[in-house]
Amino acid sequence: MTIKIGVLVSGSGTNLQAIMDACENNKIDGKVVCVGSDNPEAFGLRRAENNGIKTFILNYKEARKDILDRGMKAPEDLNVTECISKCGGEIPIYPKAYLKLATRAVVEKLLLKLLTLHGVDLLVCAGFMKILTPYFLDKFQPEPTNPHVMNIHPALLPSFPGINGYGDAWNYGVKVYGPTVHFMNYVMDDGPIIGQTALIKREGDNFEIFKNRGLEAEYDLYTNCIQLFAQGRLKVKLGPDGKQPVVEILPPRRFSSR
Ligand code: GRF
Repeated sequence: MTIKIGVLVSGSGTNLQAIMDACENNKIDGKVVCVGSDNPEAFGLRRAENNGIKTFILNYKEARKDILDRGMKAPEDLNVTECISKCGGEIPIYPKAYLKLATRAVVEKLLLKLLTLHGVDLLVCAGFMKILTPYFLDKFQPEPTNPHVMNIHPALLPSFPGINGYGDAWNYGVKVYGPTVHFMNYVMDDGPIIGQTALIKREGDNFEIFKNRGLEAEYDLYTNCIQLFAQGRLKVKLGPDGKQPVVEILPPRRFSSR
């Protein structure tokens, strides 16, 4: 069985490249069926096109203009209060919060349509710099125990969430660092952890070496985590405290000869 993978990127797309290559080389039982970006200039889109993969643009700026200048309404099924409260402060409650959320929901409605069209089983965020809201997440992965949106973060979560994982870890003077792959939930860089790679910072490293070693580790980590998903080996359950959802990695399935 192979899964259909959708990927979202905002930049250079080296993780996307690693995922496409892993699919090609049978390291992932799946194939990338579409790649989207909020940034029309993202090199990741070119990488996808070079591999004959369909691409699409998520145009947040246009959606904002559509609402502000052209009277477009937010999707009817958007519940603003519920969305904001689920984010636990990720979308702050201030006068422009509605516009921000409505803009995202307009784009996410299109995203849902495209993912359905392509039959996407797993959505992989690979350097995608926009937040996906509860409006989208609740529709794409309605069962909390069966998530299918993944993200990679360039730090050992829960340390150093935010947009500058390697930089923040470097500035803090960590001795151990590395990327995390997790299922996405309502809070940025939160969500049940699927895998992490711990790297040792070496004496004499400069920031570039430190970061590149991290990036190299991302490619194998993401490939392995996606393959575990493809093999149906990721189970989300409540952890030891009965509150925090955690990921259990199931043993490989044995096939009977009959
Ligand atoms: C990676 O470091 C990833 O962890 C972070 O954004 C970066 C994306 O790099 N979320 P690339 O576009 O895959 O080259």
